[in-house]
Amino acid sequence: MTKGFTLWFTGLSGAGKTTIAEIVRVELEGRGRKVEWLDGDEVREHLSKGLGFSKEDRDTNIDRIGWVASKLTRHGAAVIVSAISPYAAARDKARAMVEEHGAFVEVFVDASVDECARRDVKGLYEKAFRGEIKEFTGVSDPYEIPVNPQILIESEHEEPAESAQRIVALLESRALIPAAVTA
Ligand code: ADX
Repeated sequence: MTKGFTLWFTGLSGAGKTTIAEIVRVELEGRGRKVEWLDGDEVREHLSKGLGFSKEDRDTNIDRIGWVASKLTRHGAAVIVSAISPYAAARDKARAMVEEHGAFVEVFVDASVDECARRDVKGLYEKAFRGEIKEFTGVSDPYEIPVNPQILIESEHEEPAESAQRIVALLESRALIPAAVTA
């Protein structure tokens, strides 16, 4: 049976998780994998609707995502998660749930708060600096840096396509996906 795995992107809002995940998704689907992508923004509209950004709510959010990722991994899916997931203990709990059924690959997309604020794709940093959004990760709320991620991406110094390529190469080297078919 096809090996299920979960590719877990963690990092600040605006660090580049979604951009890189999208490139990886296309590549995985191109290699015939069934991909399920659990994105923080989307999960919060459905599975985690009503949750806020206190530590407790974030932990609940990550616990739910980890639980679903684990179930999907069990059935051979290639699961992509992109969520800030700022707390190490919550990420570790998600890892433990997933590893009951398959591999858990943690990808830390690192970018400084200054750079994320400069990009400010959603205009949220500006509001957070003005105090209009409370408990904003990196500004007025913590982000616990992963100590031992499987992949470290410094998105200020690498193009998204290159980062995605490194991720795909790691998945290949661990035999989680087939090698690309070359003409
Ligand atoms: S997590 O902390 O629980 O993992 P998640 O990834 O689901 O967060 O959601 C983060 C997204 O919610 C951000 O990309 C941003 O668009 C939005 N958001 C709204 N308020 C906050 C906040 N206080 N801190 C961080 N992100 C916020």
